[in-house]
Amino acid sequence: MSPTPPLPAGIARPALAAVTPYEPGRPIDDVRRELGLERIIKLASNEGPYAPFPSAIAAVAEAVAGQRLYPDPGAWALRDALSAHLGVPGDAIMVGNGVDSLIKLLCLALLDPGDQLVMGWPSFISWRQGAAIQGAEVHAAPLRADGAYDLDALAAQITPRTKLVVVVSPNNPTGGAVDARALARFLDALPSHVLAVLDEAYFEYLREGSHDGVGLVRDGGRLVVTRTFSKAYALAGLRVGYLVGPPELVQLLGRVRNAFDVNGLAQVAALASLTDTEGHLARRVAEVVSERDTVDAGLRALALDPLPSQGNFLLVRVGSPERAGRLNVALLSRGIIVRPAGAFGAPDGLRITIGRPVENSQMLVAMTASLHEVDAA
Ligand SMILES: Cc1ncc(COP(=O)(O)O)c(C=O)c1O
Repeated sequence: MSPTPPLPAGIARPALAAVTPYEPGRPIDDVRRELGLERIIKLASNEGPYAPFPSAIAAVAEAVAGQRLYPDPGAWALRDALSAHLGVPGDAIMVGNGVDSLIKLLCLALLDPGDQLVMGWPSFISWRQGAAIQGAEVHAAPLRADGAYDLDALAAQITPRTKLVVVVSPNNPTGGAVDARALARFLDALPSHVLAVLDEAYFEYLREGSHDGVGLVRDGGRLVVTRTFSKAYALAGLRVGYLVGPPELVQLLGRVRNAFDVNGLAQVAALASLTDTEGHLARRVAEVVSERDTVDAGLRALALDPLPSQGNFLLVRVGSPERAGRLNVALLSRGIIVRPAGAFGAPDGLRITIGRPVENSQMLVAMTASLHEVDAA
C-alpha cells in the first residue's frame, strides 16, 4: 500500500488539539491474545458481574428478526415505561446511546468556545472531553478526602461564564457520594445562569436515604439527571442510558441528536430490564454491595486503603503512578484486568470493579502475589 497522503493543513478544529481520546478498559480478547492466558477476569469497566436479566435476553432474541427496520427514533415504549417508573412526564426524558452520548449532546447543544463547564476532579473523563471538544473550558474542583464531590469547592469555581456544573455521585473513579441535603442546598444556591447536571450512573448502588436526582426534578428542581442501563442492569454492550430534565432542554437536544441513536435491541432490552418482575435488580445490587465489603476488607488486609465507595467499584491509591503501573502489569500477567485511573485524574490509583464472588477472591489472590512481586523488585 502506498503511503497515505496527509490531511489538508489546518483542517482539524483547533479545539481537538486539547482532546485526549478516551482509553477504555482493556477488552478480554485483547489481553488473551497478548498474554496467551486461558482465564481472564475483567474488573476494569464497572459493568455488572452477570449476564443481562433473562427477560432482556428473551426480548432481544425475539426482536432480532425485526431489525431490518430502523428503530423507533423517539424510543417511545421505553420512554413511557421510564415515565411511569420515575414519575416524570415523557417529555422530560431523553433516551440516548449510553450516557456517554448524552454527555456529548449536552455539550454540543450548550457549550461554545470560551464557555465553562465546572466539575470535580478526579472524575468521569467524558464530561471533560465533551467540553474540550466544543472548545469550552473545564474548571475542576478538588474532591473531598473521602472521594466525594466537594460542593463548596465546586461552587467556588463558578464564574459568569459557567454554563454547566456537573456533580458525579457516586463519583467515578473514587466511589464517594454527596450528601442529599447538602446537594439540595447547593442546587438552591446556584446562580440562575448555570444549569446543574447530576450524573447518577451508579444510582442503584447508593445507600438508602441517599440522593435521588429524579425526585429533585419531580419536586421542580432545575437540574438534569443522567442514569444508565450499563451498570446495575448489565446492558453495557447494548448502549442505552437516559436523562431527565427540563422538557425545553430535551427539545433542544432533539435538534442535535442522531435520529436513530438508540438501536432497536437496546430499546427492547432496557424496557424488559426496567419492567423485570423477578427481582434481579435488587438481588444483584445486594450481592455487589456485600461483595464490595468483602473486597474492601481483603484489600485492607493487604495494607491497601480503598476509598469508601457507593459504586460497584473501589479505588486504591497505591502511593505512586509507578507502583500503580507495575501492579497493573503484574495483575495482567495473572489474568486480572483492572483499570489504572490516570485518565480519570488519579495516576497513583487502580480502580477495581466488583465482580462475581469467585472473581473477587481470585483478584485478591492475584493482588497478594502482585504486591509481593512489585515490592520485592
Ligand atoms: C459516572 C459515569 N457516567 C456515565 C458513564 C457512561 O455510561 P454509559 O455506559 O451509559 O455510556 C459512566 C461509565 O462508566 C460513568 O462511570
